[in-house]
Order: sequence, then C-alpha cells, then structure tokens
Amino acid sequence: MSKLEGKTALVTGAARGIGFAIASRLAAAGAEVTMLDRDDAVKEASGKVPGSKAITADLADIAAVTGLAADIRSGKYSFDILVNNAGVHPKKPNGESYPFEEIDLDHWNRVLMINLTAPVLIAQAVLPAMKAKGWGRVINIVSRAARTFVPSTGVQYGATKAGLLGATRVMAAEYSAFGITANSVAPGRIDTPLSNQSNESVLAESKKKIPAGRFGQPDELAAAVEFLASPDASYVTGTTVDVNGGAFMT
Ligand SMILES: NC(=O)c1ccc[n+]([C@@H]2O[C@H](COP(=O)([O-])OP(=O)(O)OC[C@H]3O[C@@H](n4cnc5c(N)ncnc54)[C@H](O)[C@@H]3O)[C@@H](O)[C@H]2O)c1
Repeated sequence: MSKLEGKTALVTGAARGIGFAIASRLAAAGAEVTMLDRDDAVKEASGKVPGSKAITADLADIAAVTGLAADIRSGKYSFDILVNNAGVHPKKPNGESYPFEEIDLDHWNRVLMINLTAPVLIAQAVLPAMKAKGWGRVINIVSRAARTFVPSTGVQYGATKAGLLGATRVMAAEYSAFGITANSVAPGRIDTPLSNQSNESVLAESKKKIPAGRFGQPDELAAAVEFLASPDASYVTGTTVDVNGGAFMT
C-alpha cells in the first residue's frame, strides 16, 4: 500500500515551482491532493497530478482566507496533511531586494498576509479535525532566510518566514500529544520562478556559496515534505529540515 493512501492533503501555491512538485509527490504516494493557488493555471497544473482537485484563491485576500477556513471548519473540506507553501518575496524590477526603509505599510501587510497570517489561519482551521482523528501533519515551507541572514533578503521576507518558523514550533508544542506533527522545511535556492526573480549577479554570488555547487530542484524539496507527511515521520515534530545543498548547516 502507498504510504499516503487514504490521506487528504492541501498544498497552497501549487500551480508551479515547489508547490507543484510537492502536490505531485504526495499524489504519487497515494494522497488525494487539493492544489490551491491564486493563479488560474492551478487548474491546468492539477490536470497533471492524478486524482487532484484545484481551488483558485488569493491568500492576500483576508475574505478568501477566512472563507476557506470556514469551509474547512464546516467539513466542506477535510485535510489530514496541510502544506503551507505559498509565499512571495517581492523584488525590484532590476531583481534587487527592497532596502529596509523602502518597504511601505501596504507592501509589508501584503507579504505578512500571504507568508504568515494565511498559513496560521488555515492551520487553525485544519487542526480541530486532525485532533479529532488523532492524526495530522502540518508542514510549513519557510526559507534559509528564516534561519540565518541571507544577503538578498528583504525584511518583509525574512521576518515573515522567521515568524512562520516560530509558529510551527508552537503548533508542535500544542498538538504533538494528539498525533499531529508540525514541522518546517527551509529551502535554500531552489530553481523556480520565485528564485529567478533575483538578478544574474545575485544568483551567481549565491551559487558560489553553495557547497553542492548548484541550485536545488523542486522535487528535492518535495522529497523532504513527503517524508514529513508520511507515517515514518511520526516522532519528528517541531523541527526544521534544511534543504539547501549545504548553504546553511546547523
Ligand atoms: N525557490 C526558492 O529558492 C525558495 C527559497 C526559500 C524559500 N522558498 C519558499 O518556497 C515556497 C514556494 O516557492 P517557489 O520558489 O515555488 O515560488 P513560485 O513563485 O515559483 O511559486 C509560488 C506559487 O505560489 C502562488 N502564490 C503566490 N502568492 C499567492 C497568493 N497570494 N495566494 C495563492 N497563491 C499564491 C503563486 O501563484 C505560485 O504558483 C515559498 O513559500 C517560498 O518563499 C523558495
């Protein structure tokens, strides 16, 4: 039997990049996957992931997030596995990060909503049913920038990703006694459209500092998520799995 047979999973930001790779991996392991994205392309992406469903929703929109949370609480949707993957790291048109003082309140609030508030609200909605079943997995995709200083990181990104990492530890502390694990996965540079927003010189500098000598592939990140979602990871909780080619070691 496949390891995730009979499990349902929600993966946010699943139209492309890391989220698409995670959805594909979980489905291949037997899970019934719901792929959420703000981009309508999620419908076409879902067509490539056997047995999956697509939801189009913008996690920057508080009404969309509270509506989704209400649908989960009412039982319209039920998820054994939540992967909070959707995230943004807005860059200037020239591929540089925004300096600290140039991030205005609207910009800050938008990134905070997508990268931290929405993941926490969605987790709050899925946890009661997981608790009732005595089984659940919450996996939050953070970043190397949540673990250490990364030169190309803006404050809106580093602060929200570090916040999500902290929230993961609290979830682990409060829910692990109920058969629910909560973990973070911290990608280094993974070859996706988000990463490639950086300009050539940032990318070249960053590659030089990676012991593996290359950027990661989305499926290499998804492999760690698949493990954390599986029954094999039943005693792994409150931790952060670094998937970064050795760019940050603890
Ligand atoms: N690629 C990297 O190098 C890297 C490094 C560290 C962390 N991460 C994190 O990994 C996650 C996935 O990143 P990626 O590289 O695949 O990014 P990506 O930009 O390639 O894909 C992100 C997906 O999320 C969706 N999304 C963005 N905002 C959304 C919103 N408001 N509502 C719903 N969906 C939304 C996008 O439409 C897109 O399909 C993010 O949380 C990112 O911060 C990525």
